[in-house]
Amino acid sequence: MSVHEKVNILMVDDQPAKLLSYEVMLGELGENLIRANSGREALELLLKNEVAVVLMDVSMPELDGFELAEIIRQHPRYQKTAIIFISAVHLTDLDRLKGYQRGAVDYISVPVVPELLRAKVSVFAELHRRAHQLEMLNRELRRLSSSLIAMQDDERRRIARELHDGLGQELTAAKMIVDGILFQEKGEASSFKRNAAADASSLIDRAIQQVRSISHLLHPPLLDEVGLLSALRWFLEGFTKRSGLHTVLEVEPQEFPRLPSELETAIFRIVQEALNNVFRHAKARNCWITVKHASGQVTVTVRDDGKGVEQGVTEFRPDRIGMGIGGIRQRIKEFGGELRLARLNPGTLVEVVIPTKSLPQAPQTSKVSSAVVASIAK
Ligand SMILES: Nc1ncnc2c1ncn2[C@@H]1O[C@H](COP(=O)(O)OP(=O)(O)OP(=O)(O)O)[C@@H](O)[C@H]1O
Ligand SMILES: [Mg+2]
Repeated sequence: MSVHEKVNILMVDDQPAKLLSYEVMLGELGENLIRANSGREALELLLKNEVAVVLMDVSMPELDGFELAEIIRQHPRYQKTAIIFISAVHLTDLDRLKGYQRGAVDYISVPVVPELLRAKVSVFAELHRRAHQLEMLNRELRRLSSSLIAMQDDERRRIARELHDGLGQELTAAKMIVDGILFQEKGEASSFKRNAAADASSLIDRAIQQVRSISHLLHPPLLDEVGLLSALRWFLEGFTKRSGLHTVLEVEPQEFPRLPSELETAIFRIVQEALNNVFRHAKARNCWITVKHASGQVTVTVRDDGKGVEQGVTEFRPDRIGMGIGGIRQRIKEFGGELRLARLNPGTLVEVVIPTKSLPQAPQTSKVSSAVVASIAK
């Protein structure tokens, strides 16, 4: 709906003459005016059209305005639709309260003042237009941020591969040449050259190792090859060495099934971010990670014994969370899952629950041997 797109206004009254007069009064608003001669007809029209404002007579035979408002409100699509009652008889405050409780947002009494009717209807029509635009923008934002995450994953995978296959291979070739020099240079006179070649060779070794770790951290090869658990074990091993934190991984069932590749990537990134947060913010000594797959859902928890997360973060206040937790939330939303952060005594718990029932099936538990895993993880 664009800024000036028309919205539908439903006018309900059992007297055709009144409907005609409302139509004349509201004509200059330039919106779509729809007429209904009874409550029943109004309900039928509501099911077929998206309506911004309902203008209706309080007293109608068969189904009066209050009853109609109550039925309209029961439909999830119309819980926020503006309902304006027109009342020919004097309504007491108690009557009005009854109307408000059943979903009225405003009243107009007879004789209707055209300017007042137009002003009220146009305010609600505009509100509806704005709410609709906001909803569209939100939807677009969600779509954009999820495609951004997917693009980021693809980009990391591509850079990881290029680093490994491009720079990694060039360095290996350079090492072969330098080792060749080392092998050929013999005798006293060339000891300087030999030492230089030996230094260069070990420098290249270190560079190869670094390219390997950067490439693997960008996208663990094990994730695609043999799945989430091997990738997590590999990551935890490196993380424990780098951080000095003691980590424990608990998995259920032991024969963990393969999950769809996007979900495995999401869980890996979530654990990676949660652990990086423990290292950066928690001042913890221990960290426990669990990954459980049962009753059609995967539950992942990361718990530490550090200083504990602050309340603003557990409430996901935008000014307190960063890219990390923001990214975790976005990834989980993609799968219809939930994230919970809790401050424990001591420490912090990050808990993620993702339903797997509606996801496409992934190839079953990988039967790759531990020797293959070890060689890929090296
Ligand atoms: N395990 C933890 N223990 C204590 N505080 C934590 C823990 N995890 C997160 N926090 C708090 O939550 C805040 C938000 O975390 P988040 O990962 O969103 O952002 P960040 O780590 O500060 O930055 P980045 O955008 O690089 O991830 C952190 O700044 C930190 O204060
Ligand atoms: Mg972080």
